[in-house]
Amino acid sequence: MKALILTCCSSAALILSGGVQADVMGLEFNSDHYESKTIEYDGQSIQYRAYESIPYVTKPVVSDYQVMNIYIPEAYFQGGSIQGYQADTAPIFLPNQVGGYMPGKAMVVGTNDRTGQANSALVALSKGLVVAAPAARGRTNQTADGRWAGKAPAAIVDLKAAVRYLHFNDGVMPGDANKIVSNGTSAGGALSALLGASADSTDYDIYLTALGAAPGSDAIWAVSAYCPITNLEHADMAYEWQFNGYNDYQKMNISMLDYQVKRELVAGTLTEEEQQVSDQLKPLFPEYVNSLGLKDSSGHPLTLDQAGNGSFKDAVVTHIQVSAQSALEKGQDLSSFEFVTIDQGRVTAIDWDKYRSYAVRQKLPPAFDALDLSAGENNLFGNALTDNQHFTEFSTQHSTVAAKQVSEGTVKLMNPMNYIGTSDAQTASHWRIRVGTKDRDTSLAISAVLAAKLENTGHDVDYFMPWDVPHSGDYDLDELFAWIKSIQ
Ligand code: DHB
Repeated sequence: MKALILTCCSSAALILSGGVQADVMGLEFNSDHYESKTIEYDGQSIQYRAYESIPYVTKPVVSDYQVMNIYIPEAYFQGGSIQGYQADTAPIFLPNQVGGYMPGKAMVVGTNDRTGQANSALVALSKGLVVAAPAARGRTNQTADGRWAGKAPAAIVDLKAAVRYLHFNDGVMPGDANKIVSNGTSAGGALSALLGASADSTDYDIYLTALGAAPGSDAIWAVSAYCPITNLEHADMAYEWQFNGYNDYQKMNISMLDYQVKRELVAGTLTEEEQQVSDQLKPLFPEYVNSLGLKDSSGHPLTLDQAGNGSFKDAVVTHIQVSAQSALEKGQDLSSFEFVTIDQGRVTAIDWDKYRSYAVRQKLPPAFDALDLSAGENNLFGNALTDNQHFTEFSTQHSTVAAKQVSEGTVKLMNPMNYIGTSDAQTASHWRIRVGTKDRDTSLAISAVLAAKLENTGHDVDYFMPWDVPHSGDYDLDELFAWIKSIQ
């Protein structure tokens, strides 16, 4: 809660600088409309106020999904403090529940369906954070007239609108809108990263204005991203850089209905044609990495040669090695991991080829922009009238179906790499990125590129690969909140 900005709450319009009028009726936080709740967690009884299904735009397209749940510790209405935070200093935790770029419901304080443990909203409350949990549209949303209403960039625009709501109401709501911490997993991790990377970029203004989002900033302070499925237009080449030559796969058949994800593994081997596609994609990745001009923390260039070897690959291997060392120091027995060499209590080498067969290819080339438009990401990049589209030159050229390619502008809006370190964006200062060493939903290179780009542009980055952890998130919430505390 900061100095009061809003004094106009009886009026429907706010005059912005430059004489622009924004219709803000309905976007004022009403502190009287809540339910009092109590929940037991970790030996404490947490009392909080629940403000649920609060619209964060005035002109929603899919009104069920353009809402958020806000949870505030009761103590902040009584002048109290929790773990050193008060009403005007408590960070605002912003978890999204987007999975598979599907519509994501607003998190409700309670249990995580995937882990059966306390969810991040509950843990956040217990640590004294204010929780603002937005829902967001996703790739299968439709309006009554049958138009698609959640294709790219809908989800990121929704999250930005939710953040704007929090800034707009900072004067009247407990929690500090200058300390917003976003959190998400997988597609939700990608959106969390994008939210932090592209903050305040004017590229999204037309979409935000059309929805009647609150005027003002959509900047956030910190990003937590678990296994982000991001940088989609380079993810196919990155996947083949990692898995080329590994032709046996365990394909994940995913069927999804909203947040309910059903996963089934199907084993197989790439056909000759698929192997050719892999061979064509792999050499595109060194070209991309080299174009980024990345450096390691000592200032040495991170590059790849035509064969895909070089300092960038060494850096990825080092991340795996650091993970193995950390597991070893925690007392884990690594003797069954054939790709790890241990000498006198030190992990001295990681065999990349053996690592790749441990990880196991999960996707067929192209992993994201499928030639027959069958990938979830093809569905993300549809438009109001087209369910699925290509989003890379490569797949458009090699398409096996009659298909269109989404505009470059839309692809740009979905990739944090386009905004980090640019003058157009106020990229979040603090980043925590986690990708398990057993994650093969996207190449490890994708998060490594993201982390290096952030570090190279002066951001505070805590990037780590938890040992043997598959594609998942929110598995280390105590550490996550300790990190949030540490960046005060
Ligand atoms: C998710 C997983 C994927 O493999 C993918 O391509 C996109 C999203 C997910 O779990 O959100």
